[in-house]
Amino acid sequence: MNMVSLFLFVVCVSTTLSSSLPLGYDRIYSFGDSIADTGNFLHSGALTNPVIGKLPYGETFFHHATGRCSNGRLIVDFIAEEFSIPYLPPYLQIAESLKLKAEHGVNFAIAGATALDAKFFYDQGFGQILWTNDSLTTQLGWFKKVKSTMCTTKQDCDSYFKRSLFLMGEIGGNDYNYAFFVGGTIKKVKRMVPFVVGTIIAATSMLIEEGAREVVVPGNFPVGCSAAYLTLFGTRDKATYDRNGCLKYHNAFSKYHNDQLKLALDKLRQKYPQSRIIYADYYGVAKALFHIPHHLGKFLFTFL
Ligand SMILES: *[C@@H]1O[C@H](CO)[C@@H](O)[C@H](O)[C@H]1NC(C)=O
Repeated sequence: MNMVSLFLFVVCVSTTLSSSLPLGYDRIYSFGDSIADTGNFLHSGALTNPVIGKLPYGETFFHHATGRCSNGRLIVDFIAEEFSIPYLPPYLQIAESLKLKAEHGVNFAIAGATALDAKFFYDQGFGQILWTNDSLTTQLGWFKKVKSTMCTTKQDCDSYFKRSLFLMGEIGGNDYNYAFFVGGTIKKVKRMVPFVVGTIIAATSMLIEEGAREVVVPGNFPVGCSAAYLTLFGTRDKATYDRNGCLKYHNAFSKYHNDQLKLALDKLRQKYPQSRIIYADYYGVAKALFHIPHHLGKFLFTFL
């Protein structure tokens, strides 16, 4: 379900990052879902025999399953490489020895995570399909724990985080996935967008208040090109598909989320001029891949 070959995105994202940011980074803090999870879900033990705990997951680079939802490295791994930072340890794996193991940053991302709290999905009656309850709120709580072991006064913390890169997401994709997978219509799922975007913005604000100076906030992928959506929502009606064979209306939905997110980030930049808030266009980079697949060899793109 989660075989992800993302390395091409990653090359593009990290190149953009390094050319637009003059600073180097000493550490990275990553929040999000399976797109960035380097082992939290596997370590959480939420499933007794998860498929990501076995080959072929991990086969092309680490040569064993690491808990990444990928055969190779993730975007966050390539960003770490770009700045000569060790691959980020998953929070749940190092929670007992933070002071020792969190000096280059920590990864809080966990597969299946939502931006909105798990309670929202339980209240809506589709909690049973949630992979994890460790939503953004939980991940921010973990971050605060890490922070408290690293610095104390505001001045101390501001200086500690000055050369830190914060990756807020990708997150929010699962909020919509879960809603679509239980049969939500595009019109209905669209009503969630202000809440999901609001939650991402609140989390970003909180990080800035805690001392973050450089935050990357990625948008959602063109979900209409993903194997899961193509399987669930495939039709015989050719008009449903774009020229790349992707589901048009689901891609338009992702774009709608991204547009709302970008507007909200503009406002945030005005509020926090001292911080650099960078939107990462995962949609655009992924779209380009779907347009020229024959140039890139085979790749399979799904996500949760
Ligand atoms: C999430 O919380 C619900 C309700 O409190 C609980 O029933 C469920 O087992 C939890 N799920 C996981 C994966 O921990």
